[in-house]
Amino acid sequence: MTQELTTSLATEPARSSESPGWWRDAVIYQVYVRSFADSDGDGIGDLRGARERLPHLAGLGVDAVWLTPFYASPQADGGYDVADYRAVDPLFGSLGDADDLVRTAHELGLKVIVDVVPNHSSDQHPWFREALADRPGGAARARYHFRPGRGVHGELPPNDWESVFGGPAWTRTTDPDGTPGEWYLHLFAPQQPDLDWDSPEVRAEFDSVLRFWLDLGVDGFRIDVAHGMVKAAGLPDIGHTEQAKLIGSQVLPFFDQDGVHEIHRSWRRLLDSYPGDRIGVAEAWAPTAERLALYVRPDELHQAFNFQFLKCPWDAAAMRQVIDESLAATGSVGAPTTWVLSNHDVVRHLTRYADGSPERGLARARAAALLTLALPGSSYLYQGEELGLPEVTDLPDELRQDPAFFRTSPDGQDGQSGQDGFRDGCRVPLPWTRSGESHGFGPGGSWLPQPDTWSGLSVEAQTGDPDSTLELYRGALALRRELPGLGDGEMSWLQAPAGVLALSRPGFVCTLNTLGEEVELPVPGRALLSSAPLTYKAGTVCIPPDSCAWWAI
Ligand code: BGC
Repeated sequence: MTQELTTSLATEPARSSESPGWWRDAVIYQVYVRSFADSDGDGIGDLRGARERLPHLAGLGVDAVWLTPFYASPQADGGYDVADYRAVDPLFGSLGDADDLVRTAHELGLKVIVDVVPNHSSDQHPWFREALADRPGGAARARYHFRPGRGVHGELPPNDWESVFGGPAWTRTTDPDGTPGEWYLHLFAPQQPDLDWDSPEVRAEFDSVLRFWLDLGVDGFRIDVAHGMVKAAGLPDIGHTEQAKLIGSQVLPFFDQDGVHEIHRSWRRLLDSYPGDRIGVAEAWAPTAERLALYVRPDELHQAFNFQFLKCPWDAAAMRQVIDESLAATGSVGAPTTWVLSNHDVVRHLTRYADGSPERGLARARAAALLTLALPGSSYLYQGEELGLPEVTDLPDELRQDPAFFRTSPDGQDGQSGQDGFRDGCRVPLPWTRSGESHGFGPGGSWLPQPDTWSGLSVEAQTGDPDSTLELYRGALALRRELPGLGDGEMSWLQAPAGVLALSRPGFVCTLNTLGEEVELPVPGRALLSSAPLTYKAGTVCIPPDSCAWWAI
């Protein structure tokens, strides 16, 4: 049946595109350094490896890269446990390698964003060692959250907060004489003690850390746990368990407290004091799009990851609602929206969308890529999504490194196989070549095994194949640069049948069919690109199931 596709304006223009900075519509590629490219054969990706592969990213057509933490760290949480914020961990190279990478990226026209981890340090950071050696109430303990325990002998944690990774958010210390001492707060692993941002020393130190990397030439920061640095006064109990399930749907006494905004305002001033458009991107979990938008008010950060979109199921009505809410919320403060489908903390979207069928997952992932790249604002790509990589769901437990896996099922044998929702399966190193040691990831194997089927998903295998996911991304990113109507700017909805989204940008239409059957529509314009082959009848086009197409009008 032919469906109506008329140009009724369903939404107001998303926002004005006055004086946009580069970041307002940038496509930013997340490099999970440990799994991107390994230059020295130790099986772990590093900065030199990443630098050598930058031409792949320039050729892909992205605007910037975001590098996950490469700082000195015992690696209790993939480097999100920093022992020295100004040093490169030898695992990843040297400061010289970081400098080379930033210079090479700039030569290739790519901006570089690095992670900063201000909510917590490593327990091996000199400050935490000093704190442990100090007495209760001592100055070195004021940089963290130390508290006496509850109960007659202080044997109970100071409050009922739970770690995001499972278990209590408090660990008891042992005093120098061997007796049990105070407890310290860690919203993540025990090796990640939370810093106390009431301490002027903490604030001054992070200003200095930001300056250090800005002086080296980075173009901005992805701010880890940007919603967590301020805790509610008195550290009040929450009153119930399974608190991790409330993150992103409720304001908790340890997340999304209003006090964090003053820190972000001060960082904005610092960023603005540097030449060029240096940006701050909030990794913030907030209960609503409106609360998330507070992080990107004009005097705060530039962008915040849109996790509401990431969490949205494959359903046209739900997607449209999230898109509208996101655009309205960020538009109300004049900020661009970001579109994120995957990152190093979530099951890859191909697998999330698969509903048990990898082919369906791939079709939907390809379609989702075209949808997100057509939306107004900035897009984040997670390494490997341009190859159509699925989540690896059969990793042996003994190779797993995600601390959440071990804290949720201490022996890794909880009968649930522990794969879904944990974070090693999305961190398997990239396949670059069809064959060879670790498919070209590096000369010495890879820290997590790559499935054999990844040979056909490698960059080498997909390059030049017009039907490949890699060429689909290359084509989409090239068009996005060419077409003035894409990127920052206006968007409106066109009428479309249930299960189909049709959105209009100046000179451009995008049609997404989320249904499991093809849909016949009037031809919207000249086909530019589609995630699956289109077929035509007189005046109509058949949009295949789970597919997306771009049209010039
Ligand atoms: C990072 C995670 C990390 C956590 C604690 C998150 O936002 O993305 O990978 O485990 O922060 O630092």
